[in-house]
Amino acid sequence: MKHRICIYQLEAYSFSQNSRIDKALCDAALASFSDLNGHTTMRKAKFWMGERSMAEDTKLAIVIMAAGKGTRLKSQRPKVLHEIGGKPLLAHVIAAASRIVAPTDIFVVVGHEAEKVREAMALTGVRFVEQFEQHGTGHAIQCARRAIKDYDNILVLSGDVPLIRTETIQQVWQFHQAQQAAMTILTAAPEDPTGYGRILRRTPESPEVEAIVEQKDLAAGQQEIREINSGVYAFQTAPLLEQIGKLTADNAHQELYLTDVAGLLRAAGKRVVAIKADDATEVLGANTIAELVALDSVLRAATANRLMAEGVTIFRPETCVIDADVEVEADAVIEPFVQLLGHTKIGAGCLIRSYTVIESCTLGRNVLVQQSSVLTDSTVADGAKIGPFAHLRPGSEIGEEAHVGNFVETKKTKLGKGAKANHLTYLGDAEVGERTNIGAGTITCNYDGVHKHATHIGKNAFVGSDTTLVAPIKVGDGAYIGAGSCITRDVPADSLAVGRGRQVVKDGWAAVLRASREKK
Ligand code: UD1
Ligand code: CA
Repeated sequence: MKHRICIYQLEAYSFSQNSRIDKALCDAALASFSDLNGHTTMRKAKFWMGERSMAEDTKLAIVIMAAGKGTRLKSQRPKVLHEIGGKPLLAHVIAAASRIVAPTDIFVVVGHEAEKVREAMALTGVRFVEQFEQHGTGHAIQCARRAIKDYDNILVLSGDVPLIRTETIQQVWQFHQAQQAAMTILTAAPEDPTGYGRILRRTPESPEVEAIVEQKDLAAGQQEIREINSGVYAFQTAPLLEQIGKLTADNAHQELYLTDVAGLLRAAGKRVVAIKADDATEVLGANTIAELVALDSVLRAATANRLMAEGVTIFRPETCVIDADVEVEADAVIEPFVQLLGHTKIGAGCLIRSYTVIESCTLGRNVLVQQSSVLTDSTVADGAKIGPFAHLRPGSEIGEEAHVGNFVETKKTKLGKGAKANHLTYLGDAEVGERTNIGAGTITCNYDGVHKHATHIGKNAFVGSDTTLVAPIKVGDGAYIGAGSCITRDVPADSLAVGRGRQVVKDGWAAVLRASREKK
């Protein structure tokens, strides 16, 4: 438990991505943790602390195979850029890997649509290796030969096995070292092993492996084998490099299989071992859209369960769509059919009602978001009330206790503390001061067909219903605007502006009209 806390502390530092690292805390975390994971953790932490040492960096690299086309997806998009939990498959694998080694020790093998993949992952800081033509997983590692030659060991991950957890990769690495193996294979026993390579153990009880046989190359008796190859491996680099050139494409796919290295190493008298994952779902691959969608459900269920364990109430969690990086504080309540996407953060005590979609927003505490509201790239402060049917477009900043009611749309708009826009309103490029009331049907005319213009409304102002504010325009503190006004000139503080046709009443006019119709 203590160790786990240390990992989380260290992770928190890495994610903060700034130099304000509490070194004393980090040292303390390290001191209690380094004995468990030794070398790797020390190096990881040093990287996080900005104290990386080159000598240690040459020890362990991670190679992620991500060059394949993903033919079975029948999609234009490269397979590893397909998303689950709101994030590309490859981004999940890189995130898990970056908690073990520095991004500069991670090599992603790219090939099919390499430019797109590089571009999408550019911010992660990993390095890339080109596999210009894709002749199989063995060929992918052949292409990485130069990159890995100075590392003692490498871990190999697959870009299409995205649920893999850092802890499991660590277990493989620990087992690999403890077994002094040339190759260590992470295996599993899923309900349905179809499609996966199968593990031939030397004896059922032995950790040692004789070979891996791909689905299409299985002999009659081998169909029964339940233990599958996950596509996650550890290798000692030297024996791997000795064998990798010997691969042949003499198989059903006519490809160079990385899995054949197991048999080659065995033939050379090297130790090849397998370690079985506790939970097969973690190593499920995504080769078809149906498999991809299944992984997405697994990941989202895990996210919802994690949040509920942390004190968040999610009613009918199976109907909610919550992305992997969403954060929700305890005592928030999420109703059925809510979507929380991107880097959304929800504060304690918030109530998010059904059919609301919130993408990359930060909500303070005790915010109420009523049904069917759409919030994007915006912030909402404590105690504010949004919706139903509200639309906060990018750049909206809703102040404490402010109200944005039904059929109100905001864009690049700041609503001060306690300000209210309760009905049928558009506020674009606007600033509304504290406690100002925006009447029903108010519209900021912010666009002249070419440029956008700003509207500034002071605090404690009262904008009557059905007002159009033709920007650029300023309304001073405490000013009143009569209902139905079209405001084209600035309104000074504490004044009244009325901009509408004066009402005319003609007594008896309707009766005269009716009488003249009856005569005809
Ligand atoms: C592979 C394994 C199989 C294992 C399964 C686990 C081989 C031969 N088979 O099969 O034993 O059960 O993973 O999910 O390795 N890639 C490249 N370059 C290539 C080909 C593939 O980088 O030339 C990448 C792909 O982008 C993918 C990964 O390697 O991320 C695995 O390739 P894939 O074709 O999906 O292998 P599987 O058939 O799933
Ligand atoms: Ca695969």
